[in-house]
Amino acid sequence: MRLPGLIDVHVHMREPGGEHKEDWASGTAAALAGGFTAVLAMPNTRPPVVDEESFVQARAAARARARCDHAQYVGATSDNASALAPLAEQAAGLKIYLDPSYGPLRVDRLGPLHQHFAAWPGGRPIAVHAEGAAVATAVGLAAATGRPLHLCHVSRREEIALVRAAKERGLPVTCEVTPHNLFLSERDARAIGRGLCEVRPPLATPADCAALWDNLDVIDCFATDHAPHTYAEKTGAQPPPGFPGLETALPLLLNAVREGRLGLEDLVARLHHNPRRIFGLPLPPDTFVDVDLAAAVELGSEPLQTRAGWTPFAGLKVRGRVRRVVVRGREAFRDGEILALPGSGRDLRDAAASRG
Ligand code: DOR
Ligand code: ZN
Ligand code: ZN
Repeated sequence: MRLPGLIDVHVHMREPGGEHKEDWASGTAAALAGGFTAVLAMPNTRPPVVDEESFVQARAAARARARCDHAQYVGATSDNASALAPLAEQAAGLKIYLDPSYGPLRVDRLGPLHQHFAAWPGGRPIAVHAEGAAVATAVGLAAATGRPLHLCHVSRREEIALVRAAKERGLPVTCEVTPHNLFLSERDARAIGRGLCEVRPPLATPADCAALWDNLDVIDCFATDHAPHTYAEKTGAQPPPGFPGLETALPLLLNAVREGRLGLEDLVARLHHNPRRIFGLPLPPDTFVDVDLAAAVELGSEPLQTRAGWTPFAGLKVRGRVRRVVVRGREAFRDGEILALPGSGRDLRDAAASRG
């Protein structure tokens, strides 16, 4: 079965400042092994991507080492709204953390939030990490300013209900859901292990999980929130939140297709068509993924490309395997082997990225 090149609109590469967790070469190897031909990278690096200088450096690192296509988000601080607006055309989007997560980026006061929504040019999405009532803050700002809002990792019943209500009112709101929130709940936390199960937003209840499945029609994208931290860090005294997800997302979702929980066209809409439309991404020619829907896989039993080196889905037996990935006519992955070289990916905000 052949799928178009899949796009993950929410990944964390750890370059600069956390290369032992992931860098552009390892993270995009994980992307290709997982069937993704493009990734949009979050700005919570060390230092974070919050001004022109850090943005230029982040894009240079990606151009030098990425093995698949990419674009870079810029991150909001309480005083950088006017500095980010000129970068919008070259950015994947603007990222605002309304709630604490990993790293120092957080804006939770209404004044700076409103400034960001008002200053950010209209065309590119404002992606937010917002949990619970903060989702309503973000939706209110989108309603008041008309800016396109993309809600990251919606995980709870009340949140997806608000997304539905906002869409029914015609507000410019889109959202993504992660595989870990579709396939894991707080009931799995003990089996995953203390520390290892830490993630923001946290694993939710089985009822929250069911609500996501019941509201698939308002979920625009599946995004991994690939947040690599090493096993040693996750099992240490201060476990950082986050799960690696690039190499497990497609097998899990293909398995859901085989089980009849999801249509194949629903999957392709949420991993290709909707990400392209929402983020205004070009369609690289001759770029596709060959998958084997029948092949059995035990997640975590084979070596992973991510430097994180572990998965919260370890031991899960699913069907659905990535066989081959072709990017612009070149084989980038085949049967477990990464063939694309670091630097072969393109920045999707460069005009040349739409050409072969
Ligand atoms: O669990 C998380 N980890 N949530 C976030 O929002 C950030 C991420 C990370 O960068 O590790
Ligand atoms: Zn987040
Ligand atoms: Zn994230």
